[in-house]
Amino acid sequence: MMMSHIIKRKYFMACTVVIGSQWGDEGKAKMIDYFTRDADVVVRYQGGANAGHTVVVNGKKYIFHLVPSGILHENKMCVIGNGLALDPIQLLEEMNKLELEGIEVKKRLLISDAAHLILPYHKVLDSVMEELRENKLGTTHRGIGPCYSDKCLRIGIRTGDIFDKNTLKERLEFVLKLKNLQLEKIFNKQPYKLEEITNILDAFREKTGGMITNTEDYLHSAIKDGKKIILEGAQGYGLDIDHGTYPFVTSSSPTIGGALLGAGINSFDVDHVIGIVKSYTTRVGEGPFPTEDKGNDGDRLRVNGKEFGSTTGRPRRCGWFDIEFLKHSCRINGFTSLALTKLDVLSGFKKIKVAVGYEYKGKKSTYRHSLIDNAKPVYEELDGWQEDLSKAKTFESLPTKAKSYVRFLEKNIGVKINVVSVGPEREMTFPI
Ligand code: IMP
Repeated sequence: MMMSHIIKRKYFMACTVVIGSQWGDEGKAKMIDYFTRDADVVVRYQGGANAGHTVVVNGKKYIFHLVPSGILHENKMCVIGNGLALDPIQLLEEMNKLELEGIEVKKRLLISDAAHLILPYHKVLDSVMEELRENKLGTTHRGIGPCYSDKCLRIGIRTGDIFDKNTLKERLEFVLKLKNLQLEKIFNKQPYKLEEITNILDAFREKTGGMITNTEDYLHSAIKDGKKIILEGAQGYGLDIDHGTYPFVTSSSPTIGGALLGAGINSFDVDHVIGIVKSYTTRVGEGPFPTEDKGNDGDRLRVNGKEFGSTTGRPRRCGWFDIEFLKHSCRINGFTSLALTKLDVLSGFKKIKVAVGYEYKGKKSTYRHSLIDNAKPVYEELDGWQEDLSKAKTFESLPTKAKSYVRFLEKNIGVKINVVSVGPEREMTFPI
């Protein structure tokens, strides 16, 4: 066997980081739910309500935008890290929904006092910027870019700022002066009154005031006490502001660097970095996607895989697995293992294509940021299988061709696939 280069490690010693290895929507929430069984704390480390994390438990579907999906496991703590762009209205809505379901949130969710708040002007600016662009990014209109921009401009409002009402007022007056100028003079939109913003923050303070804290301290103590922690990423490597397909990216870092930064964890605390990888590829919004299939196969993947955005409902662009892209993702993230999702969606294809490399202008080439737009995938075709996989309970019980497909990906990517998922329910997951 030619597998000696494949990295193989055990799960869980202190922190395990779970990262989307493609363009998001790899099935992270389902896998985080699976890994959470062995964890004590789940931390969301970046992004905001642009994410839509879907978990199905006992036939019931939950979609999380901000609250870590670990909340579905009783007795586990959840943390919203400093790296988030947090929409207070959305968080209150999500908390209310969970509480109506009888799920305890207030005592089990901590919010970093350094997380930045998304306020209504961020959402309006996100939308009007998109309207204005000729080459649209296809953002989720959730105010992500404008909020992270304010963070960099050092005019953002953080959750911890809501307690000192006088300073908050002063800062908001300044920010609103800038925002209203932009809204009125450039975009011909309604300005915001101070009161509209403070009303939102008052409601937020009232409900979550006791949950806002220095979460880095909490996490460091938890690590010292031997607790097991999962760092939950949103989006995926290809949408990373630095490493993704810029400018068609989100405004945060879903990759490993963003995990450390957005949770306040140091690299010595991390033992495992698990890449979640879908058995084919999808992308929402605009931007390069070398293995996109705009024909019948792409349509079939979309229908079989129910590939419609859980935040915006947009149809996802679908295509074949891209090994070259994955290898780059592995290099950036240092994945210690991979979890392969949605293998069941490929049932019924006679042949399955896998991109094993790229060509630029007729020459073989590796992944390059500047050339990705014109990368032509070089495909190998593998035999497909016809059987329904949703009842499979072990890797051994899968059809031979499905097993060969998984082993082919593993060998060519060069990182061990430790888990396979064949459906949305918790039980449709097994280690290999
Ligand atoms: P934004 O994050 O709303 O600014 O959108 C920037 C790009 O990231 C767009 O192409 C979005 O479709 C994409 N995006 C943002 N969040 C997600 C996600 O959770 N899954 C997949 N794509 C996303």
